[in-house]
Amino acid sequence: MIKSLSEFKQASAQAKENPDGFWSEVASEFQWKAPWKQTLDFDFSNPEVKWFVGGKLNITENCLDRHLATQPNKTAILFEPNDPAEAAQHITYKELHKRVCQTANMLKANGAKKGDRICIYMPMVPELAIAVLACARIGAIHSVVFAGFSATALAARINDASCSMLLTADGGFRGAKTIALKEIADEALVSCSTVNCCLVLQRTQQVVQWNSIDKWWHEELEKVDDNCPAEVMDSEDPLFILYTSGSTGKPKGMVHTCGGYMVYTAYTFKNVFQCQPNDVYWCTADIGWITGHSYIVYGPLVNGATTVMFEGVPSYPAFDRFWEVCAKHKITHFYTAPTAIRALEKHPTSLVEKHDLSSLKVLGSVGEPINAEAWHWYDEHVGKHNCPIVDTWWQTETGGILISSLAGVTPQKPTFATLPMPGVQVVLLNNEGDEIEGEGEGILAIKHPWPSIARTIWGDHERYKNVYFSAYPGYYFAGDGALRDAEGNYRITGRVDDVVIVSGHNLGTAPIENAINEHPEVVESAVVGYPHDIKGNALCTYVIVRDMGVDSSIIEKEIREEVAKTIGPIAKPDRILVVSGLPKTRSGKIMRRILRKLAAGEHDQLGDISTLLNPEIVEEIKRQNS
Ligand code: WTA
Repeated sequence: MIKSLSEFKQASAQAKENPDGFWSEVASEFQWKAPWKQTLDFDFSNPEVKWFVGGKLNITENCLDRHLATQPNKTAILFEPNDPAEAAQHITYKELHKRVCQTANMLKANGAKKGDRICIYMPMVPELAIAVLACARIGAIHSVVFAGFSATALAARINDASCSMLLTADGGFRGAKTIALKEIADEALVSCSTVNCCLVLQRTQQVVQWNSIDKWWHEELEKVDDNCPAEVMDSEDPLFILYTSGSTGKPKGMVHTCGGYMVYTAYTFKNVFQCQPNDVYWCTADIGWITGHSYIVYGPLVNGATTVMFEGVPSYPAFDRFWEVCAKHKITHFYTAPTAIRALEKHPTSLVEKHDLSSLKVLGSVGEPINAEAWHWYDEHVGKHNCPIVDTWWQTETGGILISSLAGVTPQKPTFATLPMPGVQVVLLNNEGDEIEGEGEGILAIKHPWPSIARTIWGDHERYKNVYFSAYPGYYFAGDGALRDAEGNYRITGRVDDVVIVSGHNLGTAPIENAINEHPEVVESAVVGYPHDIKGNALCTYVIVRDMGVDSSIIEKEIREEVAKTIGPIAKPDRILVVSGLPKTRSGKIMRRILRKLAAGEHDQLGDISTLLNPEIVEEIKRQNS
């Protein structure tokens, strides 16, 4: 573990000078079944990234078996249910190992084997983490789909990866609501011909419909034992697929592989959070997102930490649930998203003060830029000016944290993610693709691969090359803009493409537009993000309808329903404006920059609009806005 600023500087210098030697040394701390022959195989002109070439391992042996000798009775997963009256569960490393092995045998008994894709659509219960690890145990590739996605979105993801099995639950508890997961899964499976087995966990005990491929989880589990040797995996065998939005309609199935992903998530978890043996670490994300994969499941478990899984939401039963849970379990590390902080900041600080938060040592932020107000509120009311805040910048594609301070070790700076991790060569580019030196603002790019960079987009390597490596040849293009201060600290300014981060969720505008265009009355639509106090960004939709005389409130309602149905409730537009046209260039391209300014109410910052095909439409939208 890096323990001082000088050690950090030394590690960064070593990693820059000799990346292979540096990562090779880091990787040697783990348990391998066969050593690698080459540390990195990569060439920017034909991006096929391979780390630890020829190495053999199983990540679950590093998460579980390795800790059995030293700390079998330490809590691995601490589960806090949605309902505060339900007892929390402390699952030890020994018990977790046993349950993962047994679940792995259940998957095998139902036909799963190495290389198969298994879709997981489950609530935030321990069995979700166990299912993820069980897949990894047998070498099946997990594809977790966030349980807030709709049947259409779920089906698209199952079909894209040709999954042969679906793991789901009867339902899920979320605050005061229950979500009918099995019902949504049933609807999705109607159009998924590759799935031949659906294992259903009982969580809510609600009544469900039963189909020929369905089996109850608890019944299947009883039929198998808990002896399951780990499958031998190559470093570059896929570990999982996780879908993220792109600027075109189709979600991208990012593929992460066993060796590099393990090494990098473990290294960054250890150094960023600086967890000590008796600490209790809580990341509030959902395992349906990359943050949950890397920093609830794999990173903490490889390090032998205690990781908390929370089933509920910050507002249930009241807006102090996070703080109540922190006090109850004496949480030492708390890692959440700016959108949650902003939502909680709106409530009286007495809700925080009434709980004993003295166990907290480190706070973290992830998912979007954290604004100054939220940063200071977090620092003052939660951290009592006593906890370093790590603002961690990274992406589904990067697998692990690329830019962040190390808690209490390297300096923090409000609203800045600060410095890159050792081995991560971040640069700023101008529009021509030239590197900017010193202080400045530009496009964030990375010069050298790190071990957990996504290896491909499932089934579409060309798209992978195009999206990440062709915009600026010789660099990984992240899609974010950033500025850099004189000390080299980075502040992320936001996306530079057609992805909008709403409440920390990555939403592509194109798939939302496609959903809206399905409405029979809609001729054309454009979706843009605009600043929002709590969500960070909200979505504004401009729609052209066939008949301007129709009642727009009905269309608005139907549009929201259509988006919820095709993508999920998280993508529902906040504002819908029915307009007679969209501002376009003479070549017919929608001027999203202008629509963004209009949605943000920045009417006087539109720049020159005289070159538009239809400048009069801008005046019309301005009138509607005011
Ligand atoms: C944004 C989440 C500013 C960014 C781990 C990135 C951030 C996208 C930060 C990836 C941060 C994430 N500061 N922006 N600390 N962390 N982002 O794939 O725009 O869900 O490209 O991964 O979130 O979102 P994703």
